[in-house]
Amino acid sequence: MSLVLVLSGPNLGRLGSREPDIYGSVDYAGLVELVSAKANALGQTAEVRQTDSEAELIGWLHEAVDREADVVLNPAAFTHYSYAVRDAAVQVTKSGKKLIEVHLSNPHTREEFRHKSVISGVATGVIAGFGVDSYLLALSQLAE
Ligand code: DQA
Repeated sequence: MSLVLVLSGPNLGRLGSREPDIYGSVDYAGLVELVSAKANALGQTAEVRQTDSEAELIGWLHEAVDREADVVLNPAAFTHYSYAVRDAAVQVTKSGKKLIEVHLSNPHTREEFRHKSVISGVATGVIAGFGVDSYLLALSQLAE
């Protein structure tokens, strides 16, 4: 079974109550359920985690390299400025595993500071704007 780490960054634990007009009404526990069910259906082992800490997220990316896992990553606000997360993400793709950057919203339709991702340049691909389905589409792509 292929291993996928499904990692979400800061404030995504607040899903459901955080700006539901932008991020939808599914809460984080609901996201975990939907992602786990999809991974099961695709024959993947998914570990689904969220952190508000940049250091913890970087540690999980190192773990993905060491465990030869693919990654679905929603870096949240780190997307726009964290060179440290980028430097960790590139280790995943350079190791030969895939890293798909996902976003619930489409950052390009929002404030200008969200138009730039420092992660996209080292990601295998990017899926944005489909709510929780962005995560599920990433799992489907990894199963191809
Ligand atoms: C987000 C978009 C980011 O700009 C924002 O900081 C987030 C969530 C998304 O999933 O749409 O926290 O990554």
